[in-house]
Amino acid sequence: MSKMALSASIILRQGLRCGRIIQASNTAMVSQLRPLHDDQAVLPRLPVPQLDDTLNKYLKTVKPLVTDEEFHLTEEIVKKFGASGGIAHRLQNKLINRAEATENWLSDWWMNAAYLDCRGPLVVWSSPGLVFPLQEFRTLDDQLNFAAKVIAGTLDYKIMVDQKTVPVERMGKDTLDMSQYFKILGTCRIPGVTRDTIQFYGQSVHPPKHIVVAHNNHFFKIDVYGKHGEPLNVRQLVHQLRNVVERSTHPAIPVGILTTQNRNVWGKAYKQLRKDKTNKASMEEIQRCIFLVALDGPVVNPTGNIMTDAALSCVHGYGPQGYAGNRWYDKTLQFIIGKKGAVGMTYEHTPAEGPPVANLMDHIMDYINSGGDKSEADVKKDLQLPAIELSKPQRLMFNINPDLKQDIEEAKVALESLVGDLEMTCFKFTGFGKNFIKSQKLSPDSFIQMAIQLAFYRIHNEPGAHYESASTRKFLYGRTETIRSCSVESVTFAKAMLDKELPVNEKTAALRSAIEAHKNYVKDAVNGLGVDRHLLGLKLAAIEAGMDVPTLFMDVGYLRSSHMRLSTSQVPARCEAFMCFGPLVPDGYGCCYNPRSDAIFFGTSAFNSSPETDSATFREALEQSLLEMQDILLRDRVKANL
Ligand code: COA
Repeated sequence: MSKMALSASIILRQGLRCGRIIQASNTAMVSQLRPLHDDQAVLPRLPVPQLDDTLNKYLKTVKPLVTDEEFHLTEEIVKKFGASGGIAHRLQNKLINRAEATENWLSDWWMNAAYLDCRGPLVVWSSPGLVFPLQEFRTLDDQLNFAAKVIAGTLDYKIMVDQKTVPVERMGKDTLDMSQYFKILGTCRIPGVTRDTIQFYGQSVHPPKHIVVAHNNHFFKIDVYGKHGEPLNVRQLVHQLRNVVERSTHPAIPVGILTTQNRNVWGKAYKQLRKDKTNKASMEEIQRCIFLVALDGPVVNPTGNIMTDAALSCVHGYGPQGYAGNRWYDKTLQFIIGKKGAVGMTYEHTPAEGPPVANLMDHIMDYINSGGDKSEADVKKDLQLPAIELSKPQRLMFNINPDLKQDIEEAKVALESLVGDLEMTCFKFTGFGKNFIKSQKLSPDSFIQMAIQLAFYRIHNEPGAHYESASTRKFLYGRTETIRSCSVESVTFAKAMLDKELPVNEKTAALRSAIEAHKNYVKDAVNGLGVDRHLLGLKLAAIEAGMDVPTLFMDVGYLRSSHMRLSTSQVPARCEAFMCFGPLVPDGYGCCYNPRSDAIFFGTSAFNSSPETDSATFREALEQSLLEMQDILLRDRVKANL
């Protein structure tokens, strides 16, 4: 791969990780659907950071990852790039003009660069899994009952979305942009041969009234509203789900597996599929549905860790030997209800980050835990009503010609190798949670990030470039900025922790200083003043103007500091759940966490093909790091009190 292509692919990969139909090809409209709450138009606009600030910050983040000689070279390149009257200033002016002309200078660029232009498979490389609190199902009834409650809970949530009553989120005193909540129901990514598009059917004049249920690779359309627009209740939904199961006892040809392919390959097969009227109509029902529910069988090749088994089912459905054909990965929301109680969701990242999706899950779990779909009075009322005529679930038919059969076989082979490569270790760390960290007057998120830095250093004896997502939703249509968690201070801290001779007070001082440096970066990032999105903007401004991509993007300092060996994210949830995803780079780790008061849930991943990385070793190093960090804080306090 050429240097330029490599740097482009790295920058593109960084985003992965997360009637009136609006299409992405009309870029001005995609990310700028009207926000959920009418008063949100007053949200501040994403700023264009000052050029010098970004370049100075950038140099600081490169320093721990290169040799002195390499750093000197990077400094020279940055100096030339940012010289007054130089290329960076011309590009900066273009960004300023763009910011004046749009509601968010980055959002449409981001949607394409981070998602729709990416040609790799969604599975493993882009779509995260979200594992719900583990359930135990003994019978088919248990499984169908739970699935029905998940559906009813989501329809209940949809009422809040439709009525614009989802409580507006805040970060400190800032109100957050809620537009992502608008974009997750009734949405689907559509494959293209060079670029995908996204369609928001939920926002059309005739929004969908159905869901699609997958079982044994068959797809069924189920209308989920009665004659008067009332959502079906749990009893009715169970009835419909049972009908689906009874009519799909043998596996169908796994047409859904095509959605796991490289996007160009899927884009071509999709065009072929659509030539047949029946296929076209079936796919449109899947694309238009409010969400999809996959009823799966038991875990395939259990790992011995039920959290990991559930995570794998959400991330890749155990591949072609499992339930990967029982999915439509282009669909934004896809619930997965396993036979024995592995329950979760896989979500297509283009329209939203994890928090709105985790919020939906919390709503569903609250809904279920508070007694299912109805109060006792409502149940009685329901029983008095005449049973409504339920239309039978409609089987969505596919005609698969020999060429498409061949495409499906090729998709199976490609997916098998991807699935064989991914390994995950998911766990609940029970040593302590946010409460202990707060009691030390430290930021829980920064503390966990530094534990991840230390774990990496402990294993590899060198620092790893480290991506954490920060939300920029305090700005109109804001998405994310990268927190570059690897810093000069984090490396000093890791070395201090691994130095057996160093006194404990020096270790805690290094910890506090590393946390402070991280917290400062977080503050910049959430205020839209990080490094990565600004550099991306400058690069895209150059490309859009037909200029050469500046040398800065091909320099070792840029390549090393963007090769994110640690791809991490905090996705908090009120219930015992966690999100998980694959690494960003072949020799990296994925690590997503849900910090709770007295425990932390982690979903970690690595690739088997890398001889250097292993998620079980990473877990061990991470747990050891967290415990040692607690230990030094406690010991230092005891010493101080003596
Ligand atoms: N002493 C005591 N308490 C502290 C503290 C300190 N020094 N620093 C922070 N805290 C408290 C905070 O007040 C907060 O309290 P709360 O639980 O009552 O709200 C809590 O600790 C958590 O704060 P902190 O751990 O610092 O982080 P955060 O919640 O601000 O999260 C980010 C930091 C970067 C994760 C967050 O800003 C963000 O951007 N989240 C979205 C990430 C995202 O989009 N992920 C999905 C990608 S798909």
